[in-house]
Amino acid sequence: MLKKKGIFICIEGLDGAGKTTQTKLLIQQLKKSYDVLYTSEPSKGLIGSFIREKYLYGENRLSPFVEALLFAADRIEHVQTEILPALKEGKIVVCDRYIYSSLAYQGAGEVDLQWIQNINKSILYPDLAIYLDIDPVKVLQRLNSKRSIMENLETQKKVRNLYLRFVRSEKLILVNADKSKNKVAKDLFIVVQKFLKGFSR
Ligand SMILES: Nc1ncnc2c1ncn2[C@@H]1O[C@H](COP(=O)(O)OP(=O)(O)O)[C@@H](O)[C@H]1O
Ligand SMILES: [Mg+2]
Repeated sequence: MLKKKGIFICIEGLDGAGKTTQTKLLIQQLKKSYDVLYTSEPSKGLIGSFIREKYLYGENRLSPFVEALLFAADRIEHVQTEILPALKEGKIVVCDRYIYSSLAYQGAGEVDLQWIQNINKSILYPDLAIYLDIDPVKVLQRLNSKRSIMENLETQKKVRNLYLRFVRSEKLILVNADKSKNKVAKDLFIVVQKFLKGFSR
């Protein structure tokens, strides 16, 4: 259905795991040899802006079902307007959070994973999905006051368990994020390079 020729990579993990730091470092490396697009979820589109500006740091939490629908709607728009056009131009797209965030966070809110996958049916799945793993206690220390309404220790533990489940089923590749920024960046780049070598064959 969806034709593309670029490569689509997503970086997943808890808030504070270092996704934005690492995605940007990865982009710097990749830019030396490839045409690359950095993007993130929630996206800059209409629904993504609503989620970021009005919801994530607000007072009230919607039901995880409604959250899943909002994130899916944002993702569908994001794929159509940003990700797919860049892939069609042959770019490497690196996305900071993607479908596995929906599965892990709303899954942690007891939403059925199959249903989350169903409402995300029309999206594009990443060619390579990486999970930056860190203990929730350590991550909350990193974050201090910059927490969204979705972050508390119990939730974080559930979210991590779901991410680890996707690692076991080989949907996500784990990179240990509990190291210095430079060490994590090196480990991450090794995984990406290995993938790119296999991809070009
Ligand atoms: N490997 C690391 N060690 C220590 N602190 C880090 C590391 N990676 C990121 N940080 C810091 O942790 C905070 C969250 O990092 P960030 O990249 O924004 O995470 P995320 O995008 O996953 O929420 C930032 O203050 C960042 O500087
Ligand atoms: Mg971030």
